[in-house]
Amino acid sequence: MASYTEVVLPRLCDLAMRNRQLLPYRKRIAGSARGRVLEIGAGSGLNLPFYGPVREILALEPVPRLIAMARRSAGAPVPVTFIEGSAEAIPIDDGAVDTVVTTWTLCSIPDAGVALHEMRRVLRPGGRLVFVEHGLAPEEHVRRWQDRLTPLCGGSAAGATSTGRSVP
Ligand SMILES: C[S@@+](CC[C@H](N)C(=O)[O-])C[C@H]1O[C@@H](n2cnc3c(N)ncnc32)[C@H](O)[C@@H]1O
Repeated sequence: MASYTEVVLPRLCDLAMRNRQLLPYRKRIAGSARGRVLEIGAGSGLNLPFYGPVREILALEPVPRLIAMARRSAGAPVPVTFIEGSAEAIPIDDGAVDTVVTTWTLCSIPDAGVALHEMRRVLRPGGRLVFVEHGLAPEEHVRRWQDRLTPLCGGSAAGATSTGRSVP
């Protein structure tokens, strides 16, 4: 099962998130980030080409295979520091980032409340959280697909270990 969770699921997650209909949201959200940016649940790096004039990008992601895919994907305007870890315990100092970006990730995080608290902790006073999320669809057949697809991008957050490195 290790190869399924470590190889197949990340690949399926990447394929699902490549949907072209998501591109306008990626452009708008990533394009609005400024300063020192932390992206939560960066996945296979599909937002990276859409960042504008930012100073630095820190990309937090619990799944090593997705980090490897993101490293290969080109196009970020500045160098990206990848951090293996969970949004529920962000290894970054208080008030150290200007913008937190997250796209379609909160539904994958086991304790979204703790994760949001962590995002607030690492934001400087006056910093911004920019996000795009989805809820459960009103149509039952769409909800069924959501239930099938959500575990694909669930990550291995429960068992994820941070690199232990704290980013100042
Ligand atoms: C639906 S995918 C979205 C990926 C990416 N944000 C995008 O827009 O393509 C959800 C992402 O959340 C990540 N994730 C799951 N649990 C997480 C956690 N506890 N902390 C941070 N990211 C997590 C998954 O590994 C996956 O990359």
